Amino acid sequence: MSVTSGVSRDWAVYYQKTGERPPRPTALFALDRFDAEPCDAPRLAVDLGAGGGRDTIEFLRRAWRVIAIDAEASAADALLARTDIPVGAVLETQTARFEAASWPQCDLVNSSFALPLCAPDQFSCVWEKIIESLNPSGRFAGQFYGERDSWMGRSGMTFHTRSDVERLFSDFDIEFFEEEEDDSETPRGETKHWHVFHVVARLQAS
Ligand SMILES: C[S@@+](CC[C@H](N)C(=O)[O-])C[C@H]1O[C@@H](n2cnc3c(N)ncnc32)[C@H](O)[C@@H]1O
Repeated sequence: MSVTSGVSRDWAVYYQKTGERPPRPTALFALDRFDAEPCDAPRLAVDLGAGGGRDTIEFLRRAWRVIAIDAEASAADALLARTDIPVGAVLETQTARFEAASWPQCDLVNSSFALPLCAPDQFSCVWEKIIESLNPSGRFAGQFYGERDSWMGRSGMTFHTRSDVERLFSDFDIEFFEEEEDDSETPRGETKHWHVFHVVARLQAS
């Protein structure tokens, strides 16, 4: 990815501010659903746009193996510098855009507040890659931005209507679905109208 050093510095500050915040509720919901199901081997999560690792750390804490993928090298740096990575954790980091990244079959693709940062003309390929990588009964957890989000129209970002989101999950059982609209500050201090779909869904057995 070609990024200016200013953009990278900006993300590094974001990771400092957010990395140690609690895991996202969607990640926790998915983990709890998995915990309620029998399992005889460590599970694998792919965290797309992992940032400073607020979700990744929780997966590792619960003895999951994790591949944390992020376009910014400073995300992997922030994650690997954390002092709360459990001893014996199986963690791989990849600095790559999710459009170009590849990852193995996994139980969970988690993407918290990151998939909207995919360009519209790349989104379907990324989404197909996510679905194809999920093991039978695997899950997706993450967010999509809606058409009333104040960032709507920004170049390089993808926005979805509610029915678009529902269509994405036609091969899934939706376990958690919340449409949020409110005004608050971003971690960078920008006031923003958020229109966000929070989703956890389980791939239907074919
Ligand atoms: C808003 S942050 C969210 C970070 C973390 N998931 C969280 O919930 O705090 C979005 C992250 O996605 C990453 N990102 C943005 N576009 C990306 C892309 N096309 N491929 C991979 N990572 C991307 C950014 O570098 C950033 O770390």
